[in-house]
Amino acid sequence: MATLFTGIGELWTFDPAHDGPLRDAALVVDDGVVAWTGPASGAPDADERVDVGGRAVLPGWVDSHTHLVFDGDRSSEFEARMAGEGYAAGGIAVTTGATRAASDERLRSLLEARLAEAYRGGTTTVETKTGYGLTVDDEVRSARIAAELADEVTFLGAHLVPEGWDADEYVDLVIGDMLEAVRPHVGWMDVFCEEGAFTVEQSRRVLDAGRRAGLGLRVHGNQLGHSGGVALAVEMGAASVDHVNFLSADDVEALAASDTVSTILPACDLSTRVQFAPARQLLDAGATVAIASNCNPGTSYTSSMNFCVGTAVLQQYLTLEEALRAATVGGARALRRGDVGSLTVGSRADLHVLDAPAAIHLAYRPGMPLTHAVFRGGRSLDTPRESAG
Ligand code: NIG
Repeated sequence: MATLFTGIGELWTFDPAHDGPLRDAALVVDDGVVAWTGPASGAPDADERVDVGGRAVLPGWVDSHTHLVFDGDRSSEFEARMAGEGYAAGGIAVTTGATRAASDERLRSLLEARLAEAYRGGTTTVETKTGYGLTVDDEVRSARIAAELADEVTFLGAHLVPEGWDADEYVDLVIGDMLEAVRPHVGWMDVFCEEGAFTVEQSRRVLDAGRRAGLGLRVHGNQLGHSGGVALAVEMGAASVDHVNFLSADDVEALAASDTVSTILPACDLSTRVQFAPARQLLDAGATVAIASNCNPGTSYTSSMNFCVGTAVLQQYLTLEEALRAATVGGARALRRGDVGSLTVGSRADLHVLDAPAAIHLAYRPGMPLTHAVFRGGRSLDTPRESAG
C-alpha cells in the first residue's frame, strides 16, 4: 500500500543528494519506508494521498538520551536550584528510593505515559536508560520494562554509588552479577563519569566490561566539570559522550578526530544552570553533534525535542539546519542507527509534520504547539501504539 504525502511546503530529507530543504515537495511511503521524495510536480501515483496543507515535514526526532524509567517527584529540588542551590549527582538517590518502591505496573504505565508525551512532540525513536534501581533486581526490572517499550535500552547501573557501598565494590557488582542479569534486555552500557559519581578509572572498568559483554558504549561526561569523561569516551571508542559542557581544546580536537558523537542536552543545561555545551565550537571543529532531551526527574524534566532544537538555535548559535540535523541524523548516529533520522529512500517513514510552513518556526515561535502530526513507519501515531520496539 503506497501513500503519497503531498502539499509539503518544506521537506527536510537530510538525503546527501539534496542541499537543504525541498520546497513544494511530495514524498511516497510504501510498506512503512520512504519510497520516493521530490518536487510535487513529479510525484508518482499512489494508492492513497495525504495532503499536509503547505506544512513543513521533517524526519521524526531521534532522542538518543533519556532516563524515563522512574517514579517520584523532585520539583522541590528544582525549585531550590532556581533559588540558587547547585546541582549535584546525589539527587539521583531520591529517585532511586521512589523507583524501588514502585510496582512493575506503575513503572510500566509511567514509562508508557512519558513515551506517549514524547511521540506527541514529534519524537519517533527513543533511547532510555536504567539507573534508578541500583540493585541487581531493580536494574533488571527497569531494563526489562524499558525493553518492552523503548527502541534502545542502555544499562546505567553505574549512575551513582548507592548509600552504604564502597565505590570499587559497587563497580565490581555492576560489571559482575548486575551486568550478567541485565544483559538480555539492553544494547548499551553507560557510566556517569563525574565527581560525586564514578572516577575515570572506575568508568574505564565499567566500559571495558560492557564492551566485553558485546554492548555499545555511551558516557555521561564533563557535565559538571572537566571530569575526563570525554577523553575516556574517545579512548574507548564510545558511540556517544553526552553533556560535554566543560571541554578543553584537547577534548574538542579529540572529539572532532573521532567517531564519538558529542550529544548536547540544551534543556538540561537550562534546568541545571550549567554553562551551555560549546556546540558551535564542536561543529566548527568538525565534530558530529546530536541533540537529545535527557528527559529525567533531576536535571531535565522535558521530552520536548522541539524545545531543545529551538534552544540550540536561540542560545547555542546553531543554524536551523545544524540543529535539525543534530536532533535527527545526529541522534541516529549516536545510536548507530542507519534506518532512522532521515527521509532518504529506504529509511523508515518517520514523519514529523509541523503546524508551520517552515521549520524555522521551531525557534521563531518558541514554546508554541508546533507538532501537527507524527507518523512512524508510515503509520499515524494519533492512537497509542502497542510497542515502540
Ligand atoms: O543525565 N547526569 C546524570 N544523570 C542524569 C541526571 C540524573 C538525576 O539527577 O536524576 C543526567 O543529567
